[in-house]
Amino acid sequence: MISVGLVGYGHWGPNLLRNLAAHPAFRVVAAADHRADRRAATRQAAPGIALYDDGVALIDDHRGLDAVAIASPVSTHYELARRALERGLHVLVEKPLCTRSEEGRDLVAIAARQKRVLMVDHTLLFTGAGRAIRALQQGERLGRVTYYDSQRLNLGLFQPDVNVLWDLGPHDLALLADFRDETPVQVEVSGQCHVNPGIPDIVHASLHFASGWMAHFHWSWMSPEKVRRTVIGGSDRMLVWDELAADGALKLYDRGIDKAAKPGGRTILPGYRTGGWETPAMESGEALQRLVGHFAEVIEGHAVSIADGPRGVRVLQFLEQIQAALDRNEAARGGGAS
Ligand SMILES: NC(=O)c1ccc[n+]([C@@H]2O[C@H](COP(=O)([O-])OP(=O)(O)OC[C@H]3O[C@@H](n4cnc5c(N)ncnc54)[C@H](O)[C@@H]3O)[C@@H](O)[C@H]2O)c1
Repeated sequence: MISVGLVGYGHWGPNLLRNLAAHPAFRVVAAADHRADRRAATRQAAPGIALYDDGVALIDDHRGLDAVAIASPVSTHYELARRALERGLHVLVEKPLCTRSEEGRDLVAIAARQKRVLMVDHTLLFTGAGRAIRALQQGERLGRVTYYDSQRLNLGLFQPDVNVLWDLGPHDLALLADFRDETPVQVEVSGQCHVNPGIPDIVHASLHFASGWMAHFHWSWMSPEKVRRTVIGGSDRMLVWDELAADGALKLYDRGIDKAAKPGGRTILPGYRTGGWETPAMESGEALQRLVGHFAEVIEGHAVSIADGPRGVRVLQFLEQIQAALDRNEAARGGGAS
C-alpha cells in the first residue's frame, strides 16, 4: 500500500481524497489545510487520519509517507512539490504544475534525481472522452487535424491567485500537447477583467502553428451558463464533444469539404460532404479514479505516465506564451484590460 498525504481540502481536494481513499493501492494517512473549517471537514470525511495546519508541516514531519497529493492554490505548488520530492516522496500535483516553466523544469530535474514520480492532475486526459480523443487523433479516422476549437465557460469559480487562462486553459492545453510537437508561431489573444484589474476573467486565444493548423479557445468565468464544448476539425472527419450533453458522448461526423478546382478558373469550389455521425466507444467511470490508479501504476513501475512533469512543463510553456500576448495587449491599452 502507498501511504499518501493530501495538502489542500478546499473545492477540489475532497475529490482527490475520495478517490485516493477508494483506491486499493492507497492508504490516506494525513491531510493539511490552513483553514480550521476545512480540517474539520477532512476529519468528517476521513476519520482517524493525522491533520496538519500547513502542507509544509505534513511533508516535513509526517513519518512513513510515500507520496503526497497537492490540491492547494497554484502559487503554492512549486514550493510544496519541491520539498516533497527532496524528501523522497512521489508527488501528484493539481493542474497547472506551477506558475513558471522554469520552476516546472526544476521540479522535473529534482524528480529525476530523486527517482520519484512527478505527475500532474490533468484530469481531462483521464476522462472517457479525453482518452477517446487522444486515440482518434493518433489514429487515422480524423485525418490530419486542421483546427481545435474549445469553449469552457461558467460563472466562476474565481481562483484566488490565477486568472481564467491559468485556471481553465490547462485542460485544453494538456490535450493539445499531444496533437503535434509544435510551438505556436503566432498567438492572438484578448482578455477582459470584470472583477480584479489585471486578472482577466474572459480570455479568447488563437494559436497558429507553422504546419498550418490552429487552435482557438474561449475561457470564461463570466458566463450565465456552463458550456464545455470542443470541436476538432480533421481532413477526413470532424469531432464534437459536448461534455454537458445528456449522454456526454463524442460525435464523429463524416462531414467536411471536398475541394475541386473550378474548370478553367483558379477559384476552388467547395463540395459539401454531409454524411452521418457515429459515437466512438468511450470508457465509463470517474476520471479521477483512473488518474489515481495511473499514479499507483507509475509509482509501482507498471506504466509510463501520460501526465508527467515534462507534459506539465509543456502546458506551462503554452500558458506563458498566451500570457505574454495578453500582457503586451494590456500594455498597449495603457495597462487596463477591463
Ligand atoms: N483538475 C481539475 O479539474 C481541477 C478543478 C478545480 C481545481 N483544480 C486545481 O486544484 C487546486 C486547488 O483549487 P481549489 O479550487 O480547490 O482551491 P481552493 O482555494 O478552494 O482550496 C485550496 C485549499 O488549500 C488550502 N491551502 C492553501 N495553502 C495551503 C498550504 N500551504 N498548506 C495547506 N493548505 C493550504 C486553503 O486553505 C484551501 O482550503 C488548483 O491548482 C486548481 O487549479 C483542479
